Amino acid sequence: MKVLGICGSPRKEGNSSSLLAEALRGCEASGAETKTIHVIDLNISPCIHCDSCLKTGKCIYHDDMDILLKEMDEADLIFISSPLHFANVSSQLKTVIDRMQVLWATKYVLKQPYLSEKKRSAVFITTASRYGDDLFDGSIATIKDFLRCGNIKLAMTFSCPSVENVGDVQQFPIIMKRCFETGKALADIKDN
Ligand SMILES: Cc1cc2nc3c(=O)[nH]c(=O)nc-3n(C[C@H](O)[C@H](O)[C@H](O)COP(=O)(O)O)c2cc1C
Repeated sequence: MKVLGICGSPRKEGNSSSLLAEALRGCEASGAETKTIHVIDLNISPCIHCDSCLKTGKCIYHDDMDILLKEMDEADLIFISSPLHFANVSSQLKTVIDRMQVLWATKYVLKQPYLSEKKRSAVFITTASRYGDDLFDGSIATIKDFLRCGNIKLAMTFSCPSVENVGDVQQFPIIMKRCFETGKALADIKDN
């Protein structure tokens, strides 16, 4: 099984990155092949709503989004992590998600899905400094919306409130362990 981790935090050693690493460590314990992409390392232009993808099924830009989409295409299971930034995912991850317009165009307009046909599942991991009932609703809605365009099933979300500084998440070993166990269990299911 191929597992892709997409880290949306600008802090490569931050809380959402640590939780993602634990989840992928769990996947590896079940024999999965894993790869992590930090979106902060990618060079991705924001969508300019030119509507070219609605006609051609392709984006006018050829940048690191090509690499990311290729990795997504090859993956069976995708973990996406992001801190909450003003009630949504980080701007780095949102730039990536807006470029998923090509998935929307090919699915709903051209009726020729962009990603190759196979079952893919995703897990969303998110962190925030505050605590509250509907804190994560905005980011979860954004993630669900884009996954739907790629016909990717959202298997689970992990929300970790009350973590602010790098390393804070280490104070929650139960959450770290849950991420590990989730990765291990999902990578063990042959047909997610
Ligand atoms: C620009 C910015 C916006 C933020 N917005 C929120 C927010 O809306 N709600 C919240 O609870 N925390 C917010 N935070 C705090 C981060 O979500 C929190 O520190 C998180 O643990 C960072 O994760 P990371 O270490 O993976 O980057 C914000 C932080 C930054 C830098």
